[in-house]
Amino acid sequence: MTTPVTIKTVHGKQLEPFLNSLAKLRIRVFREFPYLYDGSIAYEEKYLRTYLNSSNSIAILVFDGEHMVGASTGLPITDETDEFIQPFADADMDPETVFYCGESILLPEYRGLGIYSKFINKREIHAKKLGFSTITFCAVSRRDDHPLMPKDYIPLDEIWKKYGYRKRPDLHTTYRWKDIDEEEESDKKMVFWIKEL
Ligand SMILES: CC(C)(COP(=O)(O)OP(=O)(O)OC[C@H]1O[C@@H](n2cnc3c(N)ncnc32)[C@H](O)[C@@H]1OP(=O)(O)O)[C@@H](O)C(=O)NCCC(=O)NCCS
Repeated sequence: MTTPVTIKTVHGKQLEPFLNSLAKLRIRVFREFPYLYDGSIAYEEKYLRTYLNSSNSIAILVFDGEHMVGASTGLPITDETDEFIQPFADADMDPETVFYCGESILLPEYRGLGIYSKFINKREIHAKKLGFSTITFCAVSRRDDHPLMPKDYIPLDEIWKKYGYRKRPDLHTTYRWKDIDEEEESDKKMVFWIKEL
């Protein structure tokens, strides 16, 4: 890190000027296991547009100087696509009460500095202020013997539990992207974690 990081929080259309930097950061960080995302700007444009179009979305952006080095996002789940809404409706949980957290990403050299807890807190405060009673995110489910899993890979499960989130294997969905070792996009199983606010 060259200078202390600065954190900027934006909502809805305020994200527009940062869209390209966020897209590039997502593509870079999500190449890592377990996401293995072989991203493209076209895919990102479509994905991030959902956050621009949601006036109650939040994007917490971390900068080292001018350079975006981290980000965390969220929005009311009803502003998301059906893949995210349906599992809650199927489980008789009112989607109107649920705030969905998108990604939390930091370049490796900015990890372990306490920024993740800021992401978690800021998203929870925002969701609570809007009146949501449940906050959620989902994580990709990979085989235990996945050939691209690094030997030293440590899942984030213990950290999520520490922040009060509970894994809900009964709440799951599929989402499509192309892995770095795939020719084409395929469905990925995503399992939700939830916390009552
Ligand atoms: C997810 C990510 C943003 C987390 O940021 P980070 O800086 O690496 O997080 P930390 O290692 O500081 O861990 C966060 C907290 O959990 C604690 N922690 C670490 N390991 C722990 C463990 N095994 N058990 C309990 N707590 C643990 C840390 O002490 C820290 O506590 P704090 O609240 O006092 O700061 C970062 O690892 C990342 O960008 N990963 C790649 C993308 C990704 O997988 N994102 C998540 C899904 S979208």
